[in-house]
Amino acid sequence: RDTLTLLGIESSCDDTAAAVVRSGPAGTQILSSVVAGQTELHADFGGVVPEIAARAHAEKVDLCVEEALSQAGLPLGALDAIAVTAGPGLIGGVLSGVMCARGLAAGAGLPLIAVNHLAGHALTPRLTDGIAFPYLMLLVSGGHCQFLAVEEVDRFTRLGGTIDDAPGEAFDKTAKLLGLPQPGGPAVEAEAATGDPLRFAFPRPLLDRPGCDLSFSGLKTALLRARNTLVAEQGGITRQDRADLCAGFQAAVRDVLAEKSRRALARYLALRPPQPVFALAGGVAANRAIRAALEGLCQGHGARFIAPPLALCTDNAAMIAWAGLEQIRAGIPPAPFAARPRWPLD
Ligand code: KG4
Ligand code: ZN
Repeated sequence: RDTLTLLGIESSCDDTAAAVVRSGPAGTQILSSVVAGQTELHADFGGVVPEIAARAHAEKVDLCVEEALSQAGLPLGALDAIAVTAGPGLIGGVLSGVMCARGLAAGAGLPLIAVNHLAGHALTPRLTDGIAFPYLMLLVSGGHCQFLAVEEVDRFTRLGGTIDDAPGEAFDKTAKLLGLPQPGGPAVEAEAATGDPLRFAFPRPLLDRPGCDLSFSGLKTALLRARNTLVAEQGGITRQDRADLCAGFQAAVRDVLAEKSRRALARYLALRPPQPVFALAGGVAANRAIRAALEGLCQGHGARFIAPPLALCTDNAAMIAWAGLEQIRAGIPPAPFAARPRWPLD
C-alpha cells in the first residue's frame, strides 16, 4: 500500500502514550498524539517508582488509545498495523502497553509490530525533517545518553554513551536536592538563568580520557558536596546560592556534552557521510544552553543540526507509530516478540 496508517503505543517509562500517524505520497501527518504523564504520582519519591508506573500505565493505556483514535477520527479498522514499544524500559509498564496492543491487534486482525523505544527516538528526525540515512544522533534524556550513527531503520552503531547516569536524571536529582519541582530540567534551567556559572568549580568528568563515553555521577556528588558546605557554613542556602549552583551544574553538563559531541562528530565526519547531519532527541534536548552549544558546534563543522520539536523529543507514541511504519516500508516482517527490559540498539 502507498499510504499507511499506524497506531503507536508507548508505556516504557513514566508517560502513557498513544498516537496515530499516516504517511503516503502526500506526506506524513501525525493525526493524533496523546500523552498522559505521571509526574505527580512519583513526585514524592525522587524518581520513577516501577510498581506505581506499571499500575498507572495499565489503568490509562486503553483510554489513551481511545482518545488517540477519536482525535484522529478513525476506527480501529482503518488502521494498517499497530506498533508498540516492546522495550527497553520498566517491564511492568512495557507489558501493559504490549498486552493492550496484542488484544487490539488480535481483535481487529491487524499486524502487530514491536518497536525498540530507543529506535523510536533515533528515527524521529526522519518523521519531523524527512532526512535520509545515515545521520549522527545524540539521544539525551532522563534514562539515556548515547551517540548513535543511524544507518538504517534497524542498523545503529553506538559511538559512545554514559558509563553511569543520564544527564536528565542528574538534572532531576539536582532539582530535588535544591528543593525545586520535578521534572528538574526546566526548573534548573530557569534558576541557572540568574546564576553565576563560575562561582562553583564543578568537574567535567571524563574529558581527560579519549573517546565519546560520558559520566555524570561525579557531577551529582560535587553538587551535593557544594550544597552541604554552604549549609554547614551558613546554616542554609540563599536564592542566589541556588541559582549559582544550578548555573554551575548546567554549564558543566553543557561542556561535557559539547566536547563529547565534538569528538563523536569528528569520528562521524571521518566516514565522509554525503550530507552530514547531527540530530538531537530526548527530553534534555529542550535545554537552551545545551542546544545552543551543540548548534554552534555543528555550524563550525559544516553539519546540519536538527532538534525535533520538544513534544517529539520527549517520550511520545508518534515516534513509535513512525518507527513501525519505517519497518513496514523497509520490508521487515512483523515477528513474534516478548517484552524486554533491556534491549540495546547495538
Ligand atoms: O525523554 P524524556 O521525556 O524521558 C526519558 O527520560 O525517556 O526526558 C525527560 C528528562 C527529565 O530528566 C527532564 O528533567 C529532562 O528530560 N529535561 C530537561 C529539560 N527539560 C526536560 N533537562 C534539562 N533542561 C531542560 N530544559
Ligand atoms: Zn525516551
